[in-house]
Amino acid sequence: MRRAVCPGSFDPITNGHLDVIERASGLFDEVTIAVLANSSKTGLFTIEERISMAKDAAAHLSNVRVDTWSGLLVDYCKTQDIKAIVKGLRAVSDFDYELQMAQMNLQLKGVDTLLMATKPAYSFLSSSLVREIARYGGDVSALVPAGVLKALKSKAGGN
Ligand code: PNS
Repeated sequence: MRRAVCPGSFDPITNGHLDVIERASGLFDEVTIAVLANSSKTGLFTIEERISMAKDAAAHLSNVRVDTWSGLLVDYCKTQDIKAIVKGLRAVSDFDYELQMAQMNLQLKGVDTLLMATKPAYSFLSSSLVREIARYGGDVSALVPAGVLKALKSKAGGN
């Protein structure tokens, strides 16, 4: 079975992430959305909330599952027999960071990374901008799945 992982902070998952996950699900037998902690970022949503939003957003994709892991991504890949990491590339500005991680993950455990060009329509989209726009009451309804929109509204309302 050909397995891939789409890893990320997913704080929260966006339509840009979902586009990459959907296309990866057509290329692999099984795709895992791995909700991971990024030590250089502080979060709005808890890991449990991010998992729940990712599950809801990917419910229509029968070969996509959602998981979490608190260690190195490459160790997760080894435990799950996952041979490929798939990540979206929005613009040249993503490239240095993604290439560095891809090469490190290859060096550490021989896990390959495929960088998938995002749809141009999502090249400006990031979870951090979504959080900021939602925080100040801006409209992010075209940028995130319905469940995420609801969760952002309830965070803004203090629930
Ligand atoms: O969505 P992000 O924050 O750009 O994703 C980064 C993420 C979570 C994939 C990366 O920080 C990661 O892989 N974290 C798990 C720990 C790890 O393996 N770190 C070494 C990366 S070379």
